[in-house]
Amino acid sequence: MVGKILGTGSYVPAQIWYNDKLAEMVETDDAWIRERTGIKARHIASGEETTAYLAAGAARAALENAGLGAEEIELIIVATVSPGTLVPCTACEVQRMIGASQAVCFDLNAACTGFLFALNTAQAYLSQGIYRRALVVGAECLSHLTDWNDRGTCILFGDGAGAAVLEAQSGGSYAQVAHSLGEKGGVLTCLSANRQGGQEDVFLHMDGGEVFKFAVSKVPEVIRELLDREGISENEIDLFVLHQANARIVGAVAKRFGGDSGKFPINISEYGNTSSASIPILLDELNRAGKLKRGMKLVLAGFGGGLSYGASVIVW
Ligand code: COA
Repeated sequence: MVGKILGTGSYVPAQIWYNDKLAEMVETDDAWIRERTGIKARHIASGEETTAYLAAGAARAALENAGLGAEEIELIIVATVSPGTLVPCTACEVQRMIGASQAVCFDLNAACTGFLFALNTAQAYLSQGIYRRALVVGAECLSHLTDWNDRGTCILFGDGAGAAVLEAQSGGSYAQVAHSLGEKGGVLTCLSANRQGGQEDVFLHMDGGEVFKFAVSKVPEVIRELLDREGISENEIDLFVLHQANARIVGAVAKRFGGDSGKFPINISEYGNTSSASIPILLDELNRAGKLKRGMKLVLAGFGGGLSYGASVIVW
């Protein structure tokens, strides 16, 4: 049994901040941000738009796309590093908001690899026949963790959520490879306000150059490891859906796989880096644009804080 994706959804806040707005806050400019990252704009949550609110919006859209009701979902996993509340977890909040009364709910934190690890977790439950239908969500309000005085990070991040509804079906295939490098965790950090002896600094900090090097070396490596292990040639892959952290990272990975940029969709220009939400938002865009046909082979690849990284291959 394998969890087949029946539907996808996404939800982003209405408020959009273009690069020019950031240029009023820190010493930067639109041209630099576009050239170095590919980002033109990001969505920023306001008012009632908590992480759970965004996640519930994406979940409702995914359920509608799948043609299922919320009460048919037995498992909800929300991947997030920016929950509005630690307790209750965001997944329980989503359950309450969408009325998924039958679901078991928990959150998972693997930073920008979160959606991929949540998908792996759901697949494990579904393939064992423990649950039949799962909702996997990546949702972030990174704007709450962003130091708007730090030009090295504030230009990168945005808010949003993406979701997928899975159903256990016989046949099909799902394969994944995942790794973590805890000893390198210091290059991308965010402290928790209530666990650091009163420290005020709860912002994301990053050694951008080191993270960049990590991504462009490890992402091709893990995709190659996965394809070799599964005996799949890279030419058989129709699309590589990568975590959207920087358009240059996607471009560098594409070069390592023949340079066909059409196989490496990018939507970072409109959203910035939305961490665990970026892969499901991109997947949803592709799905709704009719670019995903049944039988297509997709590689999903994520990387980020932890450090963690991984890749999965799915048949759409
Ligand atoms: N606007 C204008 N100039 C900036 C700037 C900004 N927002 N941020 C840095 N600069 C300057 C630097 O001070 C430096 O100036 P100098 O040469 O006079 O010292 C110059 O631009 C180049 O800085 P550098 O840090 O080498 O830029 P870069 O090309 O590595 O781009 C990142 C910086 C952050 C965009 C890039 O390293 C990156 O995307 N890293 C990965 C981040 C990531 O993916 N994080 C999340 C992982 S999930």
